Amino acid sequence: MTVHIGAAPGDIAETVLLPGDPYRAKWAAETFLTDVKLVNEVRGMLGYTGMWNGNRVTIHGTGMGMPSLSIYVNELITTYGAKTLIRIGSCGGMQESIKVRDVIIGMTATTLSTPSRGIFKEMNFAPCADYGLLRAAADAAQSRGTPTHVGGIYSSDVFYDERPDLNEQMIRHGILGVEMEAAELYNLAARHSCRALAILTVSDHLLTGEALPSDQREKSFGDMVEIALEAAFA
Ligand code: ADE
Repeated sequence: MTVHIGAAPGDIAETVLLPGDPYRAKWAAETFLTDVKLVNEVRGMLGYTGMWNGNRVTIHGTGMGMPSLSIYVNELITTYGAKTLIRIGSCGGMQESIKVRDVIIGMTATTLSTPSRGIFKEMNFAPCADYGLLRAAADAAQSRGTPTHVGGIYSSDVFYDERPDLNEQMIRHGILGVEMEAAELYNLAARHSCRALAILTVSDHLLTGEALPSDQREKSFGDMVEIALEAAFA
């Protein structure tokens, strides 16, 4: 057990899918895995371990924002031995070529700051995805026919942004979408020699103002879970 995860030693698989929303973890585990076991419910942050195509997988919520993700990912890696960590979440689209419901695979994650700022100090470390996972996810998405974009994303600390100029600069520099967790996931994976990737569904669009109705989010989320599982075990 750790401070935030009540799982017993051995309850967590080496491959962990990480939705922000704990109820998405429950839905994905019950929909895509067999032999599912609830392994964590401390503070309502649900985690499940089960089997997919003969492979052991954990699906665990992270909460919203990098500080929350950092707590769970640190504990999953250092106490439970997680080795492959794939964020499955949503993002705001930032380019005209990107449509709501499309999938974005985050090659790099730009930030103003992350919880790792204290150790990097004046260094601008470049958080990036694991290339093997990224390539496998892009291949899986292509063979499913899911409209997918691979490139840089922006991990912001705020959803209600009082500095629209920052988003404007990200758009101007070709960033595909904005979310709130991937950069610290990539930092932690680099620090602990793990593999990490962020796969995101475009749930809203900063240029068009369009937003995906909640009843349509489940189908897009399901596509993303299957892409993540195929990439993890490619
Ligand atoms: N996640 C989904 N949409 C987002 C947005 N517009 N900004 C930050 N995170 C998001």
